[in-house]
Amino acid sequence: MLKRMQPDGQTQAGNWRLEGTIQEARQKLHNEPFLVSHDLDKSDLFDVRRLVEVAKSAAHRPGDVYYDAGDVAIGDKWGQIPVPDMPVDQVIERIEHSGAWVILKQVEKDPAYAAVLNEFADFVRAVAGPELARDLRKPEFLVIVSSPNRITPFHFDAEINFLVQVRGEKKVWICDPHDRSIITQSDIEAYYSGVGTAGKWRPEFESKARHLVLKPGSAVHIPTHAAHWVHNGAGVSVSLSLNFEFPGWRNRDVYLVNNVLKKLGMRPSPPGKVHAIDVAKSVAWQSAKRVGKVLGQTRG
Ligand SMILES: [Fe+2]
Repeated sequence: MLKRMQPDGQTQAGNWRLEGTIQEARQKLHNEPFLVSHDLDKSDLFDVRRLVEVAKSAAHRPGDVYYDAGDVAIGDKWGQIPVPDMPVDQVIERIEHSGAWVILKQVEKDPAYAAVLNEFADFVRAVAGPELARDLRKPEFLVIVSSPNRITPFHFDAEINFLVQVRGEKKVWICDPHDRSIITQSDIEAYYSGVGTAGKWRPEFESKARHLVLKPGSAVHIPTHAAHWVHNGAGVSVSLSLNFEFPGWRNRDVYLVNNVLKKLGMRPSPPGKVHAIDVAKSVAWQSAKRVGKVLGQTRG
C-alpha cells in the first residue's frame, strides 16, 4: 500500500524514494532529469531466468515484443539494426553474448508486475501534484533486457518517462527537452506524423547533455522530447521504462495540425503558448479523424 508523501519533505512511497523534496521533483517533472531510488533490484521479478518465461508469454501477443542485435552506433536508427532469426526467449538466454536489445511490453498482464506498475503510477502522480497528474494517462511498463556494452541510439519519446535500472550498469546522456537546436520543431512534427526515428545525433550534443551512471536501485526521469542515448556497462542490463502518455492537446494533435497549417503557408504557434488554442487544435484534429473514418466506412 502506498504511504502517502507529505509536502513537508517526506519522500518515500513504497519501493520509490526521491533524492530531494517533492517540491524539487515537482518542478523538474516534465522539464529536466532527476534521480529516483527504488528497491526493485531486490525483487526476483527481474531475474533474467524469470524474464525468459515472461518473454515466452509476451511473444504470443503481436506488438508486445521487439528485439534486434548487432554493433550499434549512437547515430543509428531503429529499423536498420538486424533482427536475430530466433525466438525472443532464446535471444534472452544468449543475452550475455548476443549484442541484443530486447523490449517486452505489457508485462503488467501478470498481476505481480501490475502491482509494480500501480505503485509506480501512484508515486509519480503524487510527485506530479493534482494539476499535472490529471494529464498523466495510460501508465505503461516495458522491460528492457540488453547485452553488455550495447548502445541504445539517440532518440526522443512522446511519453513522460522513468528509466529504472534493476540489473547491471549503464551510462545515460539526456539533453534539455526545450533545446530546439537538438530536437528541432520539424523533428517533433515529423515524429508525430509517423517518423518514429526523427532527430539526428551530432557529436556536439555530448557536451550539452547531462551525463549519468545508472546502477541497480537507481532511476532517472527522462522528460518528453528530451533526446537521450544509452551505453551499457560490462554486464547484462535489465532496466524498466515506466511511462505515461499525455493527452493529444498537450503535444501530438497540436503538432499534427501545425504540420497541415504550415503546408498551407501559415506560421502556427507551437503547443504550450495558449491553452485554448491547443485544445481547439486537438478538437479539430480529432473531429477530422472521426469524419475521415466515417467517410472511409461509407466508401468501404
Ligand atoms: Fe527512450
